[in-house]
Amino acid sequence: MKQYHFAIVGATGLVGRTFLKVLEEYDLPIASLHLFASEKSKGKKILFQGKEIEVEALSPTCFQGMDFALFSAGATVSKEWAPVAEKEGAIVVDNSSCWRMDESVSLIVPEINIEDYHEKRKIIANPNCSTIQSVLPLKALDEEFHLKRVVYTTYQAVSGSGMKGIEDLRRCQKGEKNQFYPYDISQTCIPEIDVAMDNLYTKEEMKMVNETRKILHRPNLKVAATCIRVPVEVAHGVVMQCEFENEVSVERAREVLSSMEGIKVVDDLKNHIYPVSTLAKDNDFVYVGRIRKDLSCENGLILYCVGDNVRKGAAANAVQIVKKIIEGR
Ligand SMILES: NC(=O)c1ccc[n+]([C@@H]2O[C@H](COP(=O)([O-])OP(=O)(O)OC[C@H]3O[C@@H](n4cnc5c(N)ncnc54)[C@H](OP(=O)(O)O)[C@@H]3O)[C@@H](O)[C@H]2O)c1
Repeated sequence: MKQYHFAIVGATGLVGRTFLKVLEEYDLPIASLHLFASEKSKGKKILFQGKEIEVEALSPTCFQGMDFALFSAGATVSKEWAPVAEKEGAIVVDNSSCWRMDESVSLIVPEINIEDYHEKRKIIANPNCSTIQSVLPLKALDEEFHLKRVVYTTYQAVSGSGMKGIEDLRRCQKGEKNQFYPYDISQTCIPEIDVAMDNLYTKEEMKMVNETRKILHRPNLKVAATCIRVPVEVAHGVVMQCEFENEVSVERAREVLSSMEGIKVVDDLKNHIYPVSTLAKDNDFVYVGRIRKDLSCENGLILYCVGDNVRKGAAANAVQIVKKIIEGR
């Protein structure tokens, strides 16, 4: 079997370290792995498959010979360095928001639209974490009932802000003053994720709107989102209010969701069985439950899903993309 040369950019970060874990678990044919981070991490050693790998700084020639480059070092680094890796012939999977809405770049959730990847543009964008876990159930329901409109409300874990978010929650839990979020995240939910836009939505909310349309190939789909940070370390929750063209039934919704790759339906309210953050933590499934008819419109369903934002919302989705590309060769 052919072996491939891999690079991880942002290897010392939360998503970067999860890349290493997921790459080990998915057992891809790896010939070599190079780890990159900022200058300050140069020389640090990180364990992979029982061997220490030294962290390197980025350089104009550092991607020579690489087959895959997984980026999770923020949009500024991706903007500058992803084209360098692409030019060297590597397929880039980028976790930042930098390339997602670029028309030439594919935005992929592998269970839904891996065929959007085309060799002409070797940069692939990994969608926003809340979008990934939401479009999986939406895709299944859209195929069955034909989606007209969706309203998202998210409950997003602090790990979505990287290590800084986790550290601020832990700091506040110890009674110390908040340094990263504008309020004490241990005591309140914060209805602001990413920067404010002129239309009074946040950038995170507009990411969900635009990325949902692109992944589902529905440029005119009616979508709105409200994104809320909550005092949970890992796993985002999303309430989805969906309206369809066709008549809906809860039973049929459960069937189509259960048969979608990557989803587990957990839905038995009377026995307290529904998606909770702890169920999703450290695995790659999106858990869907609380499925019921929307009493406020004709063909509507309301559901709730949770997913590990660092795994399926970032590292695992990227590695699954790579796996599908390798398998397709
Ligand atoms: N956390 C999530 O749930 C999540 C989900 C989806 C997407 N993402 C995206 O993934 C990216 C990383 O997020 P994270 O949560 O892993 O953040 P993080 O924990 O803060 O890690 C950031 C990483 O980027 C590296 N880095 C920073 N500046 C660099 C530079 N100039 N050159 C090279 N490397 C540099 C850091 O290296 P040093 O250690 O040397 O500073 C570190 O490895 C972001 O774009 C984020 O939006 C995160």
